[in-house]
Amino acid sequence: MLTVENLEKSFGSGSNKLHVLKGVDMSIKQGEMVALMGPSGSGKSTLLNIIGGLLAGDEGSITLGERTYGLRGPSHVVDVRRELVGWIFQDFHLLDNLTAVDNVAMALELSGMTSDEAEQAAKVALEKVGLGDRMHFIPDQLSGGQQQRVAIARAIAGNRPVLLADEPTGNLDIASGKEVMALFKQLCHDEENPISILMVTHDPDLASNADRMLLLNDGRTEASDIRSAWGLDKGEGGEEE
Ligand SMILES: Nc1ncnc2c1ncn2[C@@H]1O[C@H](COP(=O)(O)OP(=O)(O)OP(=O)(O)O)[C@@H](O)[C@H]1O
Ligand SMILES: [Mg+2]
Repeated sequence: MLTVENLEKSFGSGSNKLHVLKGVDMSIKQGEMVALMGPSGSGKSTLLNIIGGLLAGDEGSITLGERTYGLRGPSHVVDVRRELVGWIFQDFHLLDNLTAVDNVAMALELSGMTSDEAEQAAKVALEKVGLGDRMHFIPDQLSGGQQQRVAIARAIAGNRPVLLADEPTGNLDIASGKEVMALFKQLCHDEENPISILMVTHDPDLASNADRMLLLNDGRTEASDIRSAWGLDKGEGGEEE
């Protein structure tokens, strides 16, 4: 579904040059939920931004379904953002004055649907995330977890095959964070229309909900499990938690 090959990215130049991604290779299958971890500043958001068509890489390529991209600026990957990749951010990015259904429908209208179609699709997406009874509430009338679910509805409403989530639970309490993970799992493991999710999290507990974990370390991704990511398997040798 999604393949990243030898992706490189630097910022700055000369002695200020910062080589952030040094040849990232990874792939995600349809229906897979993958957690991306790594130290602050290791390039997790940079990687997501390039996959999501918000930033150009320097070398390498990204293949998503039939589409190959990665080295050209945002204006060359409008179709990727519109049709292929949905985003979930830490701080929801909802419009304060619009109801849940209008927040979701507006995004669909921007991508070319008529307002009737958009409203219908928005309602279906909100039902899917369990907000069928909150469609006409504005963000202030919703809890943080519910607001994030509106954002998730917005991201999945256009039937995009890949969802990128940069610390989606960063602003949520533990219970709401777990709900978001449960919803992600449900969306990935949906029998009719499974999507793929790549999510950044700093929380190993939440990461353990994913099918697989990747660690971004020194500019490259490596397969990981919770224990090795946290250095628990080094020198301890024991079975303790
Ligand atoms: N537009 C930019 N210009 C210059 N440097 C940048 C830019 N964007 C990111 N960087 C640098 O690239 C490195 C990786 O940043 P990135 O935001 O991808 O890290 P991260 O892994 O998401 O960190 P965090 O866990 O703190 O969110 C950092 O050192 C950052 O300062
Ligand atoms: Mg980041």
